[in-house]
Amino acid sequence: MNNTDYIYLDHNATTPVDVRVLEAMLPYFTKVFGNAASLDHEAGHEANRVVNLAREQCARILNANDPKEIIFTSGATESDNIALFGVAEKYADKGDHIITCVTEHKAVLDCCRRLEQLGKRITYLPVDQFGIVDLDALRAAITPKTILISIMFANNEIGTIAPIQEIGAIAREHGVLFHTDAAQAVGHIPVDVEAMHIDLLSFSAHKIYGPKGIGGLYVRRRNPRVKVAPVIYGGGHELGIRSGTLNVPGIVGMGKALEIARVEMRAEAEKYRQWTQMMFQQLRDDLGSVELNGHPTQRLPHNLNVSIKGIESRSLIVQLKDIAISTGSACTSASVEPSHVIMALGFGEERAHNAIRMGIGRYTTLHEILTAISQISLAVQRISNL
Ligand SMILES: Cc1ncc(COP(=O)(O)O)c(C=O)c1O
Repeated sequence: MNNTDYIYLDHNATTPVDVRVLEAMLPYFTKVFGNAASLDHEAGHEANRVVNLAREQCARILNANDPKEIIFTSGATESDNIALFGVAEKYADKGDHIITCVTEHKAVLDCCRRLEQLGKRITYLPVDQFGIVDLDALRAAITPKTILISIMFANNEIGTIAPIQEIGAIAREHGVLFHTDAAQAVGHIPVDVEAMHIDLLSFSAHKIYGPKGIGGLYVRRRNPRVKVAPVIYGGGHELGIRSGTLNVPGIVGMGKALEIARVEMRAEAEKYRQWTQMMFQQLRDDLGSVELNGHPTQRLPHNLNVSIKGIESRSLIVQLKDIAISTGSACTSASVEPSHVIMALGFGEERAHNAIRMGIGRYTTLHEILTAISQISLAVQRISNL
């Protein structure tokens, strides 16, 4: 990584911390280090003040009515856990059924598997060839016992953006709560919990040039007032939903990262959209048989996921030592499991084994992109000639 030629194209996995974010965080390690819950003195008050400022910054980018609707967590994984287990427990009297989707992140899918072991019923909706759930199938899956619909905002592998507003409207119409894992969406594309009828929403700082280990869960307080049982018990922080001393520098950093995103997101997205389109076109011109995974237009602007015919992504990344791209496959000791997301699109195992994901970011240059594309094309030609 000290190599100056290294090209990082894995921004869907994580992003570097923006220097402006780091600078905002630094005083809260050594100078203003009070415990935000220690309100007997000025040090605690100051920490509490900046935490609440960050809460406002989070609320603003989501168009939430009330900053109290933001609960700070350690990241989107924890937020997903609180949303799913917390709603399952609090609404157990009303029902035991949750609807989700096969292409969710493991942070949602593994909670659902555990909830099944605990006796809850889960419906896993399929997706079409672009990774979009069928809204009629969603409507049909709702029963009087359904308490929650959890469908991700934008997919972390293929970038497909779900029809969130329509899903929210269906949930609202049936009196079912709607949770969305928006780790890939917040700070990248417009998110509006009011217009989209979202009741719970997970987000994470490290996907938007903030620090790792900090995230949030939006929990609606009005129309309807949503209740969640805690997953972590203790001192009653964060309205009793998530106990534990607050990570003040992390929270300040996340607030700053979201503030920057709110201002810069639209211009960045436009640039990313042009660049990812250009990358796809260039790969097709160079290599011929390159398929786009995910939706052609309803997609995250900074994500490109393609399968190159006849080229296994594992062999490709071995050749690309100085470029960080991802395959999406999970390696177990015995085998390489193809990505559950690409498999769900229905094109078969080969397409899933050939999938590569590229995610561009704030500091990616056009020169880096052109270099990466030409190196990928050369590596494909080398592999084809083996
Ligand atoms: C869609 C989605 N959900 C959840 C997560 C987990 O987020 P975190 O790393 O903040 O726990 C990620 C990132 O890996 C993600 O992309």
